[in-house]
Amino acid sequence: MKFSIDFYFGGATAAFQAEGAVKEDNKGQVLWEPFLERQGRFDPEPACDFYHRYPEDLKLSHDFGLNSIRISIAWARIFPIGAGKPEQAGVDYYHQMFAECRKNGIEPFVTLHHFDTPETLHQAGDWLNPDNIEKYVAYAKFCFQEFSEINYWITINEPTSMAVQQYTTGTFPPGEKYNFHKTFQAEHNLNLAHARVVNAFKEMGIAGQIGVVHALQTVYPFDPAKDGDIHAAKLQDTLDNRVFLDGTLAGEYGTETLALMNEILAANQQAEITINPSEMDELKQAAQQLDFVGVNYYFSKYMKEYHGISETVHNGTGQKGSSISRLQGIGESGVPDGIEMTDWDWPINPQGLYDQLERIKTNYPLVKDLYITENGLGLKEEKPAAGKILDDQKRIDYIRLHLAEVLRAINDGINVKGYFVWSLQDMFSWTNGYNKRYGLFFVDFETQQRYPKKSAHWFKKITETGELPE
Ligand code: NOJ
Repeated sequence: MKFSIDFYFGGATAAFQAEGAVKEDNKGQVLWEPFLERQGRFDPEPACDFYHRYPEDLKLSHDFGLNSIRISIAWARIFPIGAGKPEQAGVDYYHQMFAECRKNGIEPFVTLHHFDTPETLHQAGDWLNPDNIEKYVAYAKFCFQEFSEINYWITINEPTSMAVQQYTTGTFPPGEKYNFHKTFQAEHNLNLAHARVVNAFKEMGIAGQIGVVHALQTVYPFDPAKDGDIHAAKLQDTLDNRVFLDGTLAGEYGTETLALMNEILAANQQAEITINPSEMDELKQAAQQLDFVGVNYYFSKYMKEYHGISETVHNGTGQKGSSISRLQGIGESGVPDGIEMTDWDWPINPQGLYDQLERIKTNYPLVKDLYITENGLGLKEEKPAAGKILDDQKRIDYIRLHLAEVLRAINDGINVKGYFVWSLQDMFSWTNGYNKRYGLFFVDFETQQRYPKKSAHWFKKITETGELPE
């Protein structure tokens, strides 16, 4: 079993996590800046200074055999307050960077929204405000017209992380917790925003392809023999995955999906969300026209029946049970014996990736192509000693096991066409600052010097042979 010659292998990045230069060239503020300032833990500046160092990172990508990259456009570099007159410096910057990709033989897969809503629009209600959806569509249309050099567009990165972390776990701004009504309303609004952009792209007759990227967490019952655990898994899966998969890949919410959503709302004494019937037509049209879906996969969840109030703690100690997630009306997460954890309490389960791909193939027959748009392992790492290569064998093992599942899926007739490691280089992490490193290239954040890790050398072999080395 081998990857085909035209398979895309790349590193994944995101504007706010990589670029730095948050105030340069009239860039507008995004929701994270005041939020991080209030927390006082991490400074998003300088990130890995991709804004200035992209020529070096793209050359490294090329030298290490990669033929593609995931990048996002910062909405607030083009429209500093989300709408109005475009900022020419931002537009020029992206043209130059895309040209540098081509120079290095790197295909850019470009995301329009990667967690970085302009602060002005966030203050105005973020995805809960229908007017912001219109502003997002206008920004997307501008990009389609302006950046005709792009072949692969992604509407929104991980809408589930936005909605759930904004309004259920509170780890994203505005930091609200257990508001399932707002969570599900944001989920539907994100589906709608995505659909309108897909439909606009097709109406405008833009050359190229358009897709969406979902974070999929495979949810299993902790004890598959217990009905209560089976049901808790279904409820958690609805909150995390199902509303998005149904909304973007089928263009309709299944009866069971709606029932599970309303069950969660009722258990929390929260109102049902508003879905306008004409919006469902838009979702349907978009699902029929969608070119691909990107899957971000890192870990699985194991759910137990739970009847108490919501309580979540994320402390990232890597110890089983150290992170708590108990959601009223949904369930409690646990970690079964034999499951290894990452340093941030994420249960590692490579088969969960195969299970999601298989589920998409079986349940969402409109889907054409699939990409693994993120997968990788976050580690605490130190700068290698002079002349030495950082040994990140754990990351190599993690990626190898997940790539083996991708090969298995391809072998079973699932149309996966590319794999992007999160991340290309070490960069800023939304909730862990500079402590969590995922890169193929180590970044010394003091000097901004890059050091290829052992995983970069190992990954290069795959790109050369299409085979998974030991
Ligand atoms: C998902 C996100 O897209 C990315 O921004 C994030 O840093 C990684 N996963 C790692 O958590």
